[in-house]
Amino acid sequence: MAAQEKVIPTIIVHGGAGNMRKHEQVLAEYLKGIKIAVKAGYQALCGGTGSALNAVEAAVSSMEDFHIFNTGRGSNLTVDGEIEMDGFIMEGKEFRTGAVTCVQHITNPVQLARMVMEKTDHICLAGPGANKFAKLMGVPEVSTESLIVERRRKMLEEKRSFNPDTYDTVGAVAIDADGNIACAMSTGGITAQMEGRVGDAPLIGCGGYCDNDYGGVSTTGDGEAIAKVTLARNIIFYMEQGLSAQAAAEKGLHYMENKIQSHPAQGGVIVLDKYGHIGMYMTTQGMSWAYIQKDQLHYGLLKGEEFVEKTDDSM
Ligand code: GLY
Repeated sequence: MAAQEKVIPTIIVHGGAGNMRKHEQVLAEYLKGIKIAVKAGYQALCGGTGSALNAVEAAVSSMEDFHIFNTGRGSNLTVDGEIEMDGFIMEGKEFRTGAVTCVQHITNPVQLARMVMEKTDHICLAGPGANKFAKLMGVPEVSTESLIVERRRKMLEEKRSFNPDTYDTVGAVAIDADGNIACAMSTGGITAQMEGRVGDAPLIGCGGYCDNDYGGVSTTGDGEAIAKVTLARNIIFYMEQGLSAQAAAEKGLHYMENKIQSHPAQGGVIVLDKYGHIGMYMTTQGMSWAYIQKDQLHYGLLKGEEFVEKTDDSM
């Protein structure tokens, strides 16, 4: 019998894909935020009670708390100047999953999504129902004003219409030493979206999906296009058919671009296979991303760019 390949505990995160040259003045902040997030995730992966689920929640929560990303504080504004966010989490052993959509007045949609997964029989709560549940769970309520950053207000003023330039949804995929895979997503949607719009992030198999037998995926990009091709599930399907994580990532994004002609249909994906091998690809100018594997931190932002650092011993 062939020896089973050993799992490499790994976390990979993205802070969204897009036409990053438009954000030249804040690229360093994207890199700072993505490095903080992947380290938070890795600590939750490798600590005493570490698990893939804790890791993706910690990494995504960190990005929700960091002003540069399009979720939590820093979310895109709706056409009415409101903030409506989506959060999603899933584990690949029993396919437990939770999501919230169009939720307001909270800082961490991914944490509420995990509560939906663990404390209800449902998979997704929307709008006022999600907020009622947050209250029931004792989640602190915050003002819309406290979630808005000036940069996003300007983006709404400049583009009071559908704006395909910025897809900076965040996401994470992790695999722990037991081979459990989890993924999570969080987003403020798109600038000037209509009230009540639901994108790909909270929909199972669109923004994220994982299956311990094959791997895990988190996407970013044109939400309507991603949902139309169920991008995350499609990438897992390619892996079921025998493609590597990298080949499946590339095929998934090209399939979306070819099939969906009515949208920009661009984006980025991060993928782990069931051993912790990495797949990552983007059809945009850039995507902030990072992963930690074997105590090496890898990260980048513009297409083709990759930096490597040794993680510090305190982690
Ligand atoms: N990809 C995130 C969204 O479209 O809402």
